[in-house]
This record gives sequence, structure tokens and C-alpha cells, in this order.
Amino acid sequence: MANQNNQKGELLKKVASHAKEYGFIFQSSEIYDGLSAVYDYGQLGSELKNNIKSYWWKSMVQLHENIVGIDSAIFMHPTTWKASGHVDAFNDPLIDNKDSKKRYRADVLVEDQIAKIEGKIEKEVTKAAKRFDDFDRKMFMETNPRVQRYLGEIETIKARLKNGLEGDLADLKKLIEDLGIACPISGSKNWTDVRQFNLMFNTEIGSLSEGANKIYLRPETAQGIFVNFLNVQKTGRLKLPFGIAQIGKAFRNEIIARQFIFRMREFEQMEMQYFVKPGEEMKYYGQWKEFRMKWHLALGMGEENYRFHDHIKLAHYANAASDIEFDFPMGFKELEGIHSRTDFDLKAHEEFSGKKLQFFDPKDNESYVPYVIETSIGLDRMVLSVLAHAYTEETLEDGSSRTVMKIPAPLAPYKVAVLPLVNKDGLPEKAREIANLLKLDHNIQIDVKDAIGKRYRRQDAIGTPYCITVDYESLEDNMVTIRERDSLEQVRIPIDKIQEEINERVSINSLLKKLI
Ligand code: GAP
Repeated sequence: MANQNNQKGELLKKVASHAKEYGFIFQSSEIYDGLSAVYDYGQLGSELKNNIKSYWWKSMVQLHENIVGIDSAIFMHPTTWKASGHVDAFNDPLIDNKDSKKRYRADVLVEDQIAKIEGKIEKEVTKAAKRFDDFDRKMFMETNPRVQRYLGEIETIKARLKNGLEGDLADLKKLIEDLGIACPISGSKNWTDVRQFNLMFNTEIGSLSEGANKIYLRPETAQGIFVNFLNVQKTGRLKLPFGIAQIGKAFRNEIIARQFIFRMREFEQMEMQYFVKPGEEMKYYGQWKEFRMKWHLALGMGEENYRFHDHIKLAHYANAASDIEFDFPMGFKELEGIHSRTDFDLKAHEEFSGKKLQFFDPKDNESYVPYVIETSIGLDRMVLSVLAHAYTEETLEDGSSRTVMKIPAPLAPYKVAVLPLVNKDGLPEKAREIANLLKLDHNIQIDVKDAIGKRYRRQDAIGTPYCITVDYESLEDNMVTIRERDSLEQVRIPIDKIQEEINERVSINSLLKKLI
């Protein structure tokens, strides 16, 4: 596992550098040495992002007759964030090292320590697995005294961490000291006290002369949905249960700026709030957990790479919560959250605004504040999961090697590259004809430069699932060769069948069909 971790650690670096080299993702303001935890999407990254958004939007809004989509503003009335609890409680526990002057999230320092102990356990397991042919991992974990001691240590640390995060900041500092955690930069154990730090960015609206007001950049898109609940319900004449979906930017002043686009200061969320009758929320919570997992699995990136992590400790507003975790290069981490948020948000907005946010149920002839099931996925994390899973270095049968991005075909930035074998004798014109046929439905490229092998490699590196090669015979028989990126299989098909073949394999519909 230690080895595997190293390889996986390497993978994140390789993905980041590949993403930059080919125009997926750049560091923001790079010419000024960059802005930490802020990234720009290049020409390929924005296509990939758009395809993910389209898959999400169509699967949520188009496939569900009772879900509608909105686009609310990033700036909201400041009282919104008082009501939602973000002004008072959207905090991270921070600690500074007095020698290096570096700032850390106290809980992350402790979690890193836990990961080290987990690494030791894996070492023991790997060692033992080599010694026995019929190695039983579970039994070994349950009986080996050293592993048991490590597991006990982890349990104790987790219990103290939980206690610290619930408010005992002095003990959180003591935990860091007891574990002998040193600053990764200076190696010093000279720590300040742990303090709470609010993650919301703020700015001022209006000019100072008019008496400017402090406002926040939204830290989640969900509140734009809650405050519009009645507007949408009434104008859309919607009946419970119904959902409101939204894709948009969110901002958090994250202190730990690392792991590429996993944790960013400016990022995008795809959220849906599903309004239900109180008492029915657990039924829908289960249904949404199932549907969202199905959405991920339809992409074909491996069932083994996803798992649910049900929360034991719940936020004050939730009565159930679960994460869908993905096996990122850093290990299993949260990709999406599914939360049963009760009526906390709507009730809080009723209280702070003095306006009723209730649904009149004609069946029961009563008004009530609906309960809410939320599905919330980070678009950038989704991009990272796709890129990390796609990145593959391969040695081919002829001994040559290639780096290929095995991006699920419907999400790939370019679906097809049309390649005339030579750039003369009417082949480019034939390629153009085919490109014109396909470009109405798909993003495609024509590439005429360099030898065909080199062009294939270029398309592999950006994840284009199909290359169509136009050769001299094509001019005679109106047939072309289609090469499939992953299997490298090549088949010859008539030009008038291309559109149908390609549509079948690369459209978002091919994913949506798996969901209904
Ligand atoms: N409305 C609920 C909410 O915002 P959250 O767990 O804080 O819940 C939801 O965030 C999702 O947003 C996460 O599962 C993650 O994918 C994404 N996300 C949160 N913070 C992020 C960050 N700093 N950078 C990138 N994605 C982030």
C-alpha cells in the first residue's frame, strides 16, 4: 500500500502536468506566479466540464418531470448567511506554526497522522500476505496484535478529534502536541492555540460614500434555491415532491490549498434540493442515494472506485447524510454529498425574513414547511475523478508506448478526429465532407499534420475516443477506417453509416438511457 500510495501520489502530479500540457487546466494568473487553489479551465477542460454539466443537468432536470432548473445570483442578501448558519458556524479550526509562520487546518494535521498509522497497518498486511498463500486479510487484521494496537490508536485519536471539532479547541491543540506532530516545513512543534476561521469571502456592495454593506460570495449554491422556493413553486405550479436544480460557482477561503483541483477557493457545484412532505424524507433520501450512485456508475469508471460513507456525526440541520466517495489518487475522498436537511433552511429563512415559505397541500388541506433532500456534487472534483481515472500509460504490442486519456466517450472534449492519410490528392476535401457531417452534433477535429501514428498519439493524449482515417481507397469505395481509442480496434465502415455509429457511441443519451 505504501508503494501504491507513492504511485498514486505520483499519479496526481502526472495528471496535473498532463492537464496543463494539453490545455485542460491551468493555474490561475500563472504569469504572475499563480494564485493558490484557483485554476482556469483551458480549451479541453471547458469542453469536459460542459459535458459533465450537460450529463448532470439532463439526468436531473430532463429525466425528472418534477425537477426544474434555475440560475440564481452569486451575491445574496447578507441575512441569507446569518439564517443559514454560515456566518456563525462555517469555520475551520486553524493552527499556526510559530517558527515557519505557516498556517494549517488542525483537523487535517491530525488526519494526516491517522493516514500514517494506516500506512503502517498496510505495511504489516503486505508483509504477512507475502508469507502465506491463502492469506485472509480480515482475519489477520482482527488477530494480529500490532495491527490491533494501531487500530486502537486510530480509534482514540478519532474520538479526541471529534471532541475537538465539537468545540474543545484546547484539547485539539493538546492532541497535536501529544501526537508529536511537527510542522512539515520547519519540523518545529512550536504551535499557537487552535482558532476558528470563517471560510466565507466577503466584499462590499455599493460605494463607501453611500454607506457600503458587507456581503458574501456564496459558499454554496443551495441557499439561492431555498430563498426562491416559493417563487419557483408558485410560478411553476409545482406539487410536492418536486426538485430545484442549479449549477453555479461557490467560493470558500480554504486554508489547505493542495491536491490540485480537489480543494479550491473558487469552484463549481451542481446541487439539487428535493422538497418533500415531512415524514417522507427517508424514503426519498434512499431513492436519491441510489439514483446518484447509478449516475456515477453509468460512466463505467469501475464500481470498485466508488463507495458510500454514511455520516455518523450529523450536522445540526440533518437527520441523515452520506457521501459518495471516489478512489482519487489521494485515496477514497468525498465526491458528492446526499443530505436529508429536514426543514432547517426554509424555517430559518422564514424566521429571518418574516415571510412564510410553506406549501399548501390540497390533498390534506394544510400548509407546512417541506423537508428537503439535497444532492450536492463538486463539478471540479468530478473533473478530477474523470482525469485521474482516465490517465493511462501503456506499452503497446509493437513495444511503443503511449499516454492515453480513457475519458468516458460522452464526456470527451473531442468525440472524433478526422485524419486524411495524406494532405493532398483530394483526401483533405473528403475529410472535410465527413467533418461537416459530424460537426452539427459533435465537437470534432480535423488533423492533417505529421505521420498518422503521431496524430493517433496526439488524439490518445487528449482522450478523443474515435479517429476516422480517410485514405486513397475512401475516394473509390466511400469507406473509412474507424479506430477506437482504448481497444485500438480498427474497422472499415461506409461513410453514410458514420453518423449513426458515432452518435450511438458518444452521445450523452447513451448514458441517460442507463438511468431510465
Ligand atoms: N450544499 C451542501 C454543500 O455545499 P459540501 O459537502 O460542503 O455541501 C458539496 O459541498 C460538494 O461540493 C462536495 O461534495 C465537493 O464535491 C464540493 N466541494 C466542497 N468544497 C469544495 C472545494 N473547496 N473545492 C472543490 N469542491 C468542493
